[in-house]
Amino acid sequence: MGNLPFSYSFISCVFLLSIKLSIAADTITPSRFIRDGEKLVSSSQRFELGFFSPGKSKYRYLGIWYKQISDTVVWVANRNRPIFDSNATLTIGSSGNLVILNLKNGTIWSSNMTRKAGSPVAQLLDTGNLVLRDNFSSNSSEGHLWQSFDHPSDTLLPGMKLGWDLKTGLERYQTSWRSADDPSPGNYTHRLDIHVLPKLCTYNGSVKLLCSGPWNGVAFQAAPSYSYLYEPTVVDNEDEIYYRYDSYNSPIIMMLKLNPSGKIQRLIWNERNNGWEVFFSGPDYFCQIFGSCGANSVCSIDKTPNCECLMGFKLESQLNQTRPRSCVRSHLVDCTNRDRFVMIDDIKLPDLEEVLLNESMNLKECEAECLKNCTCRAYANSKVTGGGSGCLMWFGDLVDIRKAIGHNNGQSVYIRVPASEVGKKKLLWILVILALPAGNKAANSKTRDSWFPMFSLASVSAATANFSTENKLGEGGFGPVYKGRLHNGQEVAVKRLSSQSGQGLEEFKNEIKLIAKLQHRNLVRLLGCCIELEEKILIYEYMPNKSLDIFLFDTPKESPLGWETRVRVIEEIAQGLLYLHQYSRLRVIHRDLKASNILLDKDMNPKISDFGMAKMFGGDELQSKTKRIVGTYGYMSPEYAQQGLFSIKSDVFSFGVLLLETLSSKRNTDFSNTDSLTLLGRAWDLWKDDRAWELIDPILQNEASYLILNRYINVALLCVQEDAVDRPTMFEVVSMLTNETVNLPHPQQPAFSSIRGLKNTILPANGETGACSVSCLTLSVMDAR
Ligand SMILES: *[C@@H]1O[C@H](CO)[C@@H](O)[C@H](O)[C@H]1NC(C)=O
Ligand SMILES: *[C@@H]1O[C@H](CO)[C@@H](O)[C@H](O)[C@H]1NC(C)=O
Ligand SMILES: *[C@@H]1O[C@H](CO)[C@@H](O)[C@H](O)[C@H]1NC(C)=O
Ligand SMILES: *[C@@H]1O[C@H](CO)[C@@H](O)[C@H](O)[C@H]1NC(C)=O
Ligand SMILES: *[C@@H]1O[C@H](CO)[C@@H](O)[C@H](O)[C@H]1NC(C)=O
Ligand SMILES: *[C@@H]1O[C@H](CO)[C@@H](O)[C@H](O)[C@H]1NC(C)=O
Ligand SMILES: *[C@@H]1O[C@H](CO)[C@@H](O)[C@H](O)[C@H]1NC(C)=O
Ligand SMILES: *[C@@H]1O[C@H](CO)[C@@H](O)[C@H](O)[C@H]1NC(C)=O
Ligand SMILES: *[C@@H]1O[C@H](CO)[C@@H](O)[C@H](O)[C@H]1NC(C)=O
Ligand SMILES: *[C@@H]1O[C@H](CO)[C@@H](O)[C@H](O)[C@H]1NC(C)=O
Ligand SMILES: *[C@@H]1O[C@H](CO)[C@@H](O)[C@H](O)[C@H]1NC(C)=O
Ligand SMILES: *[C@@H]1O[C@H](CO)[C@@H](O)[C@H](O)[C@H]1NC(C)=O
Repeated sequence: MGNLPFSYSFISCVFLLSIKLSIAADTITPSRFIRDGEKLVSSSQRFELGFFSPGKSKYRYLGIWYKQISDTVVWVANRNRPIFDSNATLTIGSSGNLVILNLKNGTIWSSNMTRKAGSPVAQLLDTGNLVLRDNFSSNSSEGHLWQSFDHPSDTLLPGMKLGWDLKTGLERYQTSWRSADDPSPGNYTHRLDIHVLPKLCTYNGSVKLLCSGPWNGVAFQAAPSYSYLYEPTVVDNEDEIYYRYDSYNSPIIMMLKLNPSGKIQRLIWNERNNGWEVFFSGPDYFCQIFGSCGANSVCSIDKTPNCECLMGFKLESQLNQTRPRSCVRSHLVDCTNRDRFVMIDDIKLPDLEEVLLNESMNLKECEAECLKNCTCRAYANSKVTGGGSGCLMWFGDLVDIRKAIGHNNGQSVYIRVPASEVGKKKLLWILVILALPAGNKAANSKTRDSWFPMFSLASVSAATANFSTENKLGEGGFGPVYKGRLHNGQEVAVKRLSSQSGQGLEEFKNEIKLIAKLQHRNLVRLLGCCIELEEKILIYEYMPNKSLDIFLFDTPKESPLGWETRVRVIEEIAQGLLYLHQYSRLRVIHRDLKASNILLDKDMNPKISDFGMAKMFGGDELQSKTKRIVGTYGYMSPEYAQQGLFSIKSDVFSFGVLLLETLSSKRNTDFSNTDSLTLLGRAWDLWKDDRAWELIDPILQNEASYLILNRYINVALLCVQEDAVDRPTMFEVVSMLTNETVNLPHPQQPAFSSIRGLKNTILPANGETGACSVSCLTLSVMDAR
């Protein structure tokens, strides 16, 4: 688990190089068999079949494994009947079945088909599937008479189906080994639960141990999805219902394995370390365990205690030792039209017992329908595609709700609450929701949510049409940025660090590790990176609306930002920054917050990007000093620009500048030829005269709320005060921005608003300007004054 995230390469060259003539065949016929010690090898040398002894066991079993990784067995034939000596053979018996024969014990195992083939041939395919087919039939679409993929052991390989053949009644599911030395079926199974909507569940005997949310048309709701690595599919028709996943990059070796202790793990082979990387593992922590909190409660891993009753519910008074404590209604539901629904956001949907599904209803109809029936407790969309569709209604206890973590696709559920409760707790509940998005260290490190892959230079090159100029999006401080399209069609932004960026490989890797740990909806998401030859490349999610500075400062403005959008942008950046500063006791100081580093997604949601200079603070460290002052002039706090001192308060300063810029559509540095010197000075001058209103971008004159505007300017001025100690923390900023009843202190004169302050700041303590872009120009202009 402690492996570095970049140690793994997508492209495995081994297969390409090792294709050589081999005497090992991939087929068995009635006249060709294999003995213990001999092997079948699939045509491109990917899989191998033969007899083996697991772990410390002395017994022999017939199994299939990756040729390259012979100690990871992916399928076992005779799980229930070990062979006690090494005299077994695999052949095609007189019944046309594939059989394992042993001198002493006769038929150990058989494929048990009743239909007899005219000319049976068994073949080990490159997918890892052992198939039995009829060589007489030239009709290839007739398929296989028998295949190992229909009888999974503990491993689901890419291309295998997990689920039901409704015509034959065959269910394909994984069963754990009893132990590492014993492949006989253990107590754990992993199967597709098809009640109402398909979902993946691990069972301990018949007890659910871990379940994903239902398939929502794109993914299993609230389950980690690595959609850039493999394509998940759920087929649901009259003939069959199944889940499968297929790798985009076929040389990559991956599997979904149910281990002997009941953990379901998504594993990917790390070519460089020769080891498996755990992408997902569960259950690993309390909230993952099915129903860990009891009915009608939400499990949040970042809260103590983890369990919290849903609104309108209270802990049941009687302790019941035989199951987790549940929550019961705190009031009788009036069952009038006065009941209300309260949304809980970003959760895994409750389990689907006592649920009705109507796929043709929309959310509005769903609400009306649920309101009609007293016993309906909650409703939600069943699909997320097309902005949400379909209707799920719950009629019983709401079980197994947990907060989604990281980028896992959480969903909203609407819970029925008597009108009398709504007013009372609403504020509190909103607060709770506000406080939650910050992730949790324990969960991240355990589930490897923060893990991300290495891309090969070839794949990055292909994604960007060989880094063509048509694909170039722009030039950042550290090198050009390209638009790319991955194998699966996903659009990405590819940042190619120039060799002059001044960053060493170790620094680069450390930073990647840092970014990979950060997960928040307002931070741009890193999908992977590429380190090959001299290249250092970062692959991010693509932000179609580019960056905030374009909307604020570019003239003529094509589509100016409205007031509502600006308010949201400000609040969300504040949330993102709060997350950075308070992230699981580690402080991350961004150090280069500015409008061009705020990217906008297709819905204009802001995401903080460019962690090239971010620093992580451990433990109680509050402030640090650097000789290498990098950053962007105009956004740098005085103590940082002058002395290289940075702390969370230097980010707060930059946030204050950004806030004023967002309200005014002016750059901080646009005022260098005025008496106010800077936007900060201008804001201060207007504020003193009670004319702060005039700062606002004129196009917002009719839209903006005077009260909020005044409040925002006040907060901004608090953020840009000269003395770092006077500036609020992001936690305080967020509460000042969102809570109208919080009293705001009066700000001191901001930094850089007088000649004195400016003089001291023009020249940093030393000449290094690592990230000198637009800022340097400004610096010299200012210098000349
Ligand atoms: C069976 O295999 C064992 C080794 O496992 C060998 O000693 C023995 O001679 C074999 N028996 C026969 C009947 O071939
Ligand atoms: C196989 O044969 C051996 C020796 O005859 C016997 O001890 C053993 O129980 C048999 N195993 C099975 C699974 O029938
Ligand atoms: C095949 O059928 C026999 C008899 O019904 C049964 O004992 C055996 O377990 C079956 N084998 C497999 C692999 O299903
Ligand atoms: C299958 O049949 C073809 C002729 O129809 C023959 O050439 C080939 O050898 C057969 N394959 C096997 C594995 O028996
Ligand atoms: C091949 O088999 C499929 C399924 O059994 C059948 O629908 C199809 O007509 C067959 N084609 C030929 C050429 O026999
Ligand atoms: C499987 O469950 C049974 C009881 O249900 C228990 O006795 C046994 O120890 C369990 N085995 C494993 C490997 O957990
Ligand atoms: C599975 O159930 C058994 C009891 O049947 C219990 O001892 C065991 O701890 C459970 N396993 C897990 C992983 O919860
Ligand atoms: C405790 O829970 C079990 C299982 O749901 C139930 O059968 C039992 O009646 C409950 N006991 C009490 C005192 O509520
Ligand atoms: C689903 O909802 C639609 C629209 O409200 C309705 O016409 C239809 O009868 C419903 N279907 C079921 C099975 O309830
Ligand atoms: C409410 O819904 C439940 C579950 O579908 C149903 O059994 C019950 O008859 C409905 N009640 C009313 C009043 O519609
Ligand atoms: C990229 O470069 C490779 C080799 O230099 C070439 O084969 C390929 O056609 C190029 N692709 C594009 C889209 O230019
Ligand atoms: C808003 O601020 C007031 C005063 O500081 C405080 O009493 C109240 O709890 C806050 N409300 C929320 C929702 O944070």
